Amino acid sequence: MKNEGNNVYSVFDEIISREEKESFLTQKARVVWMTGLSGSGKTTLARYLERKLQDNGFFTKLLDGDNVRSGLNKGLSFSESDRNENIRRIAEVSKLFLDGGVICINCFVSPTAEIRQLAKDIIGEADFLEVYVNTPLEECEKRDVKGLYAKARKGEIKDFTGISAPFEAPENPTIEVLTAGKTIEEAGDDFYNKLIPFITKEKQ
Ligand code: ADX
Repeated sequence: MKNEGNNVYSVFDEIISREEKESFLTQKARVVWMTGLSGSGKTTLARYLERKLQDNGFFTKLLDGDNVRSGLNKGLSFSESDRNENIRRIAEVSKLFLDGGVICINCFVSPTAEIRQLAKDIIGEADFLEVYVNTPLEECEKRDVKGLYAKARKGEIKDFTGISAPFEAPENPTIEVLTAGKTIEEAGDDFYNKLIPFITKEKQ
């Protein structure tokens, strides 16, 4: 603690504010919350989006089931309560990125309106952009990139979203990305163009 004249400063006064970070980065920090079925293309689109954002001067962090469930959330199952805990922790982490001025791109099934509301409540409505990656179940099952749908159909995976656990499509997402019949570039460019107005900050 420093004592300068009558003012007492603590180290907390010296933490750089989100506002200053956003000005430094010339962007508005937001959480881009991507929801959709397993295999809908969330992570693929997020990777394309992140590259394009970085090429255009934006600073981002991508979180998805693979990097979060193998570390921070290791050991959490797909029961309703563990999914809630998964999303709660992710929302808290995203909030820290927001404070750092970063655009946080999240790819999580987050299957119910209630679970997404939980994330929104933690993050704050103004900073939460809900993105619905809308790929029909039949298409996800046809792609079955990880072979999980086949296993779920055989009963080898329980509580599998879309098969033996619910998925509620968002009713009023900020952005909807349709992927069926589109290339990654087409869907990704559409996503990028729709997102830009929400994260653009004019240079002061
Ligand atoms: S969430 O429901 O808690 O938001 P999360 O996005 O972290 O799920 O993880 C989903 C990923 O885990 C899927 O893309 C899939 O690869 C894998 N997975 C394994 N078991 C399940 C299951 N029972 N339901 C959904 N996804 C599962």
